Amino acid sequence: MRILVTGGAGFIGSHTVVELQEAGHEPFVLDNLYNASEKVIGRVEAITGKKVPFYKVDIRDREGLNRVFDEVKPEAVIHFAGLKAVGESVRMPWEYYENNIGGTLTLVDVMRQHGCKNIIFSSSATVYGDPAFIPITEECPKGQCTNPYGWTKSMLEQILSDIQKADQEWNVVLLRYFNPIGAHKSGTIGENPNGIPNNLMPYITQVAVGKLEKLHVFGNDYDTPDGTGVRDYIHVVDLAKGHVCALKKLTPGSGLSIYNLGTGVGYSVLDIVKNFEAATGITIPYVIDPRRAGDIATCYSSADKAHEDLGWKAENGIREMCEDAWRWQSSNPNGYDD
Ligand code: NAD
Ligand code: UFG
Repeated sequence: MRILVTGGAGFIGSHTVVELQEAGHEPFVLDNLYNASEKVIGRVEAITGKKVPFYKVDIRDREGLNRVFDEVKPEAVIHFAGLKAVGESVRMPWEYYENNIGGTLTLVDVMRQHGCKNIIFSSSATVYGDPAFIPITEECPKGQCTNPYGWTKSMLEQILSDIQKADQEWNVVLLRYFNPIGAHKSGTIGENPNGIPNNLMPYITQVAVGKLEKLHVFGNDYDTPDGTGVRDYIHVVDLAKGHVCALKKLTPGSGLSIYNLGTGVGYSVLDIVKNFEAATGITIPYVIDPRRAGDIATCYSSADKAHEDLGWKAENGIREMCEDAWRWQSSNPNGYDD
């Protein structure tokens, strides 16, 4: 299938392009490089041995999109492009709504004008808010988001669902990711956060490589086994493969499909520290700090629906996630600048 991958130079997008090529699809990457390096493209090509056509275009640029659609003639779009920093979204809500929502509205309009009505959208477990029950199934009601980033995901789910309802030619897949970590086994592509990482695993790997002094654990008084927050960490390559499996829901009449992409297993912050230390032999010094605003105690998925409908299941365990995150970080201490 010819697939346009927006945000395909980013962390999850680049891993998905690898898996698409390995599965025999033809991905085309569109990215404005706001949070990515063009070097990713060469690294993906080195992994798969295939060319990756790349377009430096913004999803808010209607003319640019029209040119790409005229040339590529995609049958489907996997839509990763967007801003994703939770704290930044609180300080810059307009930029988040304009980029994520405005950009997606333009993209979807260009898609329908070109007769391409198949989209897989990157949503997030954040749409469940403080979840009504655990493990979280897709039937769990959506909740109150605690930041504008989360609201963009929740609102875009609604917008894409409404568009599909109004025009049955659309096939829409909403994938709700839990916490992607790890990196491709080659160690040549991985997560490359700007500045000090917000997320747990890149923070830990930067402590391990000596760029940061110690980990700050945000609260140890949650109602969890060891008091620290519990999340469903998923290897980014498994997550990427979930997109390949989800393509089967882009057939005529499929309509709207919603899936959690998680492992169904929860690990606490201290579990992650211990597993990282065991996988790498490196000690991670840490201090306990107050809770981070907006965090919840526990968030992990039921991954059954994706298994039953798509035949997809995460294969990598926590050890591989830690080993692979470390292989990437230790061989690229400065990300794509190395
Ligand atoms: P990322 O920042 O690495 O990738 C996003 C890519 O989109 C970047 O390469 C960026 O340059 C590009 N981009 C941003 N705005 C754009 C625009 N206007 N036009 C064109 N390109 C643009 O992030 P990621 O972790 O790979 O996340 C991919 C998607 O998955 C995002 O939509 C994110 O919100 C979602 N998601 C991520 C997580 C996570 O923990 N990483 C969890 C749930 C959902
Ligand atoms: N944590 C720390 N110290 C840190 C960073 C994180 O203790 O330096 C803790 C957090 O308090 C939380 C856990 O580690 O308990 C995971 O935090 P992350 O920031 O890595 O991930 P979140 O679960 O907060 O959020 C992530 C993405 C969101 C996405 C969500 C989906 O950042 O965009 O997963 O589940 F919506």
